[in-house]
Amino acid sequence: MKSAPKTFHVKSFGCQMNVYDGERMAELMAAQGMSAAGTADDADLIVLNTCHIREKATEKVYSDIGRLRKVARAAGRDTPMIAVAGCVAQAEGAEIVARAKVDVVVGPQSYHRLPALVADAVAGRPALDTELPALAKFGALPARRRAGPSAFLTVQEGCDKFCTYCVVPYTRGAEISRPWTAIVDEARALVDAGAREITLLGQNVNAWAGEDEAGRTRGLGGLIRALDRLPGLARIRYTTSHPNDMAQDLIDAHRDVEGLMPFLHLPVQAGSDRVLRAMNRHHTRDGYLRLIDRVRAARPDIALSGDFIVGFPGESEAEFAETLSLVDTVGYAQAFSFKYSPRPGTPAADLAGQVAPEAMDDRLQRLQAALGRDQIAFNRASVGRRCAVLVERPGKLPGQMLGKSPWLQSVHLMTDASVSDLVEVDLVSAGPVSMAGIERVRRAA
Ligand code: 5AD
Ligand code: SF4
Repeated sequence: MKSAPKTFHVKSFGCQMNVYDGERMAELMAAQGMSAAGTADDADLIVLNTCHIREKATEKVYSDIGRLRKVARAAGRDTPMIAVAGCVAQAEGAEIVARAKVDVVVGPQSYHRLPALVADAVAGRPALDTELPALAKFGALPARRRAGPSAFLTVQEGCDKFCTYCVVPYTRGAEISRPWTAIVDEARALVDAGAREITLLGQNVNAWAGEDEAGRTRGLGGLIRALDRLPGLARIRYTTSHPNDMAQDLIDAHRDVEGLMPFLHLPVQAGSDRVLRAMNRHHTRDGYLRLIDRVRAARPDIALSGDFIVGFPGESEAEFAETLSLVDTVGYAQAFSFKYSPRPGTPAADLAGQVAPEAMDDRLQRLQAALGRDQIAFNRASVGRRCAVLVERPGKLPGQMLGKSPWLQSVHLMTDASVSDLVEVDLVSAGPVSMAGIERVRRAA
């Protein structure tokens, strides 16, 4: 029998939903009386909250497990208990136990059972749970007691879109929305715990649907309007959205709701209609561009962000050029771009015409150069704007603080304001990834 772990460390990889899940797992273990270790290297229990979206992310888990054990051996410590959580746990299940001899495997919909699984592992019983029971976990998690100035709140999980490259529909299950009251209650608890900004999370967050207190059917726009009325909550964001779920009410919320920040992460993946069809995206290039026009009509200063995949099977040079031209047309404020990675069990993994690695490298470089250029252009165009900055943490220099603009730019400024303050700032200069601001001098009335 192993001894029961007294300290834990959660390490999250991948998306913001994993960051949220990681925080919840930490809260859960703290509620069981365990204490947080400073680093993974001195924890009795290490939870690796994993990402399966690309092959590299998955391989990282296995190399991390090896490294953690080596560090413990070198320090003459007992081997730590290792729990693999998240999407690799869901996708690979028992294979991980066979390949890496980990103690616990727990999927993203069953991590509320982590303490019970750890107890099973201590008693030498198999400890694996990759069930996908919709929403069961939320009711079993402790209340939110601590939050930074900017907090995540998962409102929706799963995906029914089945893009042909993507593992999410298999690892996170079908689209489900958390109920209205559970979300409003958690938002209120986060604000009471210190949050001034909440980012609503979901794999398809804008597919969120539910009923409000009066039993009326509402979408994400309605939920945002209600959250905007919470006293103490200054800012609302949401991510990630699918173009086909961008309802008019949500677009209108960008025009009407003061607390909804002018930022939209709206992945398009590719600029060619043939590739979009092969990806099963259910939208065209033109449909996406018209949608962007409607969003910009509602909120002209909105900052746009996207996700891109280069080298999808069969993507020709001419089709890739259509991605570049779409980027030119939209002018993203920031974006994420990836080389296509074939994922086991997804339809695209079996397609003919896998693109050569050199071509992928070349395309990624060209795309990132274009996106980098646009990011700098967006930042430069922001110079001269006056805006509120939510202070998130101290900077490197004495008296310097770092925070976020409404357009999600990192802003550094000299101020005696504290973390969680909203400071009126003039944006005075732009770098590739951050802005400098000067606190606006308040004149006596
Ligand atoms: N290969 C490369 N990128 C992928 N993404 C999802 N699946 C893959 C894959 N198989 C990217 C998409 C998605 C983001 C979260 O990850 O761009 O929007
Ligand atoms: Fe994956 Fe497509 Fe669903 Fe996004 S919409 S999670 S890319 S299947």
